[in-house]
Amino acid sequence: MSEHTQVKMTEMNYDKDRPKAENPLLIEDISLRDGHQSLFATRGRTEDMIPVAEKMDDIGFWAAEVWGGATFDTMHRFLGEDPWERLRTLKRYFKKTKFSMLLRGQNLVGYRNYADDVAKLFVKKTVDNGMDIFRTFDALNDYRNFETVVPVIKECGAHFQGCICYTLTEPRLGGEIYNLDYYIQKAKDLEDMGADSICIKDMAGLLAPYDAYELVKALKENVKPLIHLHSHFTSGMSPMTHFKAIEAGVDIIDTCMTPYAYRTSHAAIEPFVMSLLGTNRDTGFDIRALADINEILEKDVLPKYKHLLDDSKVSGIDINVLLHQTPGGMLSNLVNQLKEMDALDKIDEVYKQLPKVRKELGQVPLVTPTSQIVGTQTVNNVLFDTPDERYKMITAQVKDLCYGLYGKTSVPIDEEVRKKALKGYDRGEDPITCRPAEVLEPELEKARKEIGSLAVDDEDLIVYALFPVTGKKYLMQKYGKEEVPESIKPITLEDVEKQDAMLAKARKGELIEKSCSESAPEKSDNTRTFNVFVEGEYFEVGVDEVGGAPVITYATPQAAQAVAPAPAPVTPAPAAPTSAPAKPAVKSEPAPKPKEEPASSGTGTSVTAPMPGMVIKYEKNVGDSINEGETIVVIEAMKMENALPAPASGVVKAVNYKSGDSVAKGDVLAVIE
Ligand code: CO
Repeated sequence: MSEHTQVKMTEMNYDKDRPKAENPLLIEDISLRDGHQSLFATRGRTEDMIPVAEKMDDIGFWAAEVWGGATFDTMHRFLGEDPWERLRTLKRYFKKTKFSMLLRGQNLVGYRNYADDVAKLFVKKTVDNGMDIFRTFDALNDYRNFETVVPVIKECGAHFQGCICYTLTEPRLGGEIYNLDYYIQKAKDLEDMGADSICIKDMAGLLAPYDAYELVKALKENVKPLIHLHSHFTSGMSPMTHFKAIEAGVDIIDTCMTPYAYRTSHAAIEPFVMSLLGTNRDTGFDIRALADINEILEKDVLPKYKHLLDDSKVSGIDINVLLHQTPGGMLSNLVNQLKEMDALDKIDEVYKQLPKVRKELGQVPLVTPTSQIVGTQTVNNVLFDTPDERYKMITAQVKDLCYGLYGKTSVPIDEEVRKKALKGYDRGEDPITCRPAEVLEPELEKARKEIGSLAVDDEDLIVYALFPVTGKKYLMQKYGKEEVPESIKPITLEDVEKQDAMLAKARKGELIEKSCSESAPEKSDNTRTFNVFVEGEYFEVGVDEVGGAPVITYATPQAAQAVAPAPAPVTPAPAAPTSAPAKPAVKSEPAPKPKEEPASSGTGTSVTAPMPGMVIKYEKNVGDSINEGETIVVIEAMKMENALPAPASGVVKAVNYKSGDSVAKGDVLAVIE
C-alpha cells in the first residue's frame, strides 16, 4: 500500500482546495445514460436531467455519459422525446464536461447491423449535435464491425473509445476462450485501430476483484491508450473490483450519482471520493457538491421514477448473475416476457437452458443485442419446443446471427442449429464470412423515399432509418399528424403524491369500500396509468381525477395488461379478519382478455399471437392464398422479430391489425379459410 500514502489532511478537506493527487483517478459519470437504463428501464426524461446538469458540469468529471445505448429507442418509443433534442439541450448546461455515448458498433443505437451509409451519417450527425466521446462496442468483440464508424469518428475529431466486452465461460477469468491472452489481444487490436482509450465493458458485473487487478495490470503493460473500467454492480463485486483496478493503475472508472447507483447499475461515486481522499489517486472532487446534487435528485426527480424500480426483492445484489451471467437488463427482460406470457414459473427452466442455447449460438458474450437474442430464443425454446423438436420458433435475429450478419462468434455455431435456422432464409442458406455490413445494401436513400417529407432533416431521417415502425409513429406525433398518447406524457411530483396517498389507502383497505359501493364510472381521456406494487404483487391501475379525489376505475394485474383492457370493475375482496394485517385492496381478478373478433363470421383457422408484442408486418393480405408453414405475419416481442407460420393452407380471410399495433397473447391476428 506504499503507493497510496496518505497526504496529511487537515480539518478541511472535503473541498476542492486540498492538495492535488499525483495521479488522480478520472471519473465518468453515467447516471444519465446507463444509470437510468439499468434501474428505470431508460425512462429518464430530459426535463429531469436539467435540474442537476449545471451542478454536475462543475464536479470535474472526465466525461458524462448522456446518450446512446437504449436511450435513442426508449425516448422516441416511450417518452415522446426527440433523442437529438436531448443532446442539444443538455449541451447547453454541460459547458465544460465532455459528453460520451454508448455506440453499439455497426448496430449504432439499434439491435441489428445497419448499412454503412446509415452508420456514417449517424456518427456525423451525432458529432454535429454535440457528442465528444464514442464508447464503441461490438457484442461479439468482432472489430470488423468498427471499420465503418471509427474513421468517421476520427475524421470528425471525436474520441474513439474501443470496448472489450468482458465475458466468461468459467466462474473466473480463464479457460479456453475468454482468458487473459484473449483480452490482451483484443486491446492490441483496438490500439491498432487508433483507440484513444480502451474500455473493459463488464456489463453483467462478472469481473472479480483479483481478476480485475490482473487484467488492468496486463493491459497497462501491453497497450498505451488510457484504460477505462465499466463494471456493473449487479453481482455486488464491483466496488471491490474497482478498488483493485485502481490499485492496478486503471485510469478511468464509471460511477453513478447515488440515487442512480447499485442494484443492476453501477457503484456510487461518493464512497470512492471518500476512500481515495488524500491518496495519490484522490479524485479531487468536492463531496459537498456531490451531496447537493443527490439531494435534488432524491427530492425533485427520483420520486417520479421509483415505481419503475424492481422492488420484488429486498436484496440489492443478484447472486444469480454469477451463475448464469445475464446482464441486469436482460434479466428483467426475461422476467417481464415470461410474466406477460403467464409463464413466470418457467424462469428456472430458462436459466437452466440459457448456457446451452448460448453455447449452441457460438458462446457469444451476453450484451445488447446478443443478450436479447440468446435470452428470447431461450424463452421461445422453453415455451414452444416439443420433446421431439427443438428450436421450433427461431427468431429472425437468431437466423441473422447464424448467417453471420452480426459477425464472427468466438466458437462456431452448432451446425444443426445453424442448418435449421438458415433453412429457407432469404439471404441464402450458406453463412457468410466477410465483414457483415458488406452484404447490406445501402439503406439511406430507400428510407428517404419511404419517409418523404415527414423527415424534415437528417436527424429525423435517422430516427426512421433506425426504427422504421416506431420511428415513423414518433415523427407523426412530433409533427402533429398523430396525437401523443396520454400514457407517454410525463408524470409530475403531484401525480406521485396522489399515487402515494392512494397506495396508503389501498394498504388500509379503504379503496375497496369505495369502488364496490358504486359501479365503475366511465373511464375518461384523462385516465393516468400507474404501476402499484402491493406486497410483492404488481398492479397496473388507471386513475381518474374526479372532483379532486382519486377514484380507481380498474385494476389489472400486469399479466393481462398488454392491450389497453376494457375497464373491469374491481372485485370486492373478502373483509379482512380483524386479527390479520389489512390485505391489499386493489387485488382483482385478471380483466377479461380483449378478444379480437375475426372479421369474417365463418369458421376459418385463426392465427393467434403466441406472445404479447407488436405487429411488424403482414406478409399476406386478405384474399392472398397461403400454404401451411409460410410466414403470414411478423411480430416483435422483447425486441426480437418472430415470423409466425400459417397453421393451415387456404385463403387469408381476415387481417385484424396493422403494422405498429400492440397485440396480447391469444389475440387473433388473421384468419385463414
Ligand atoms: Co453498462
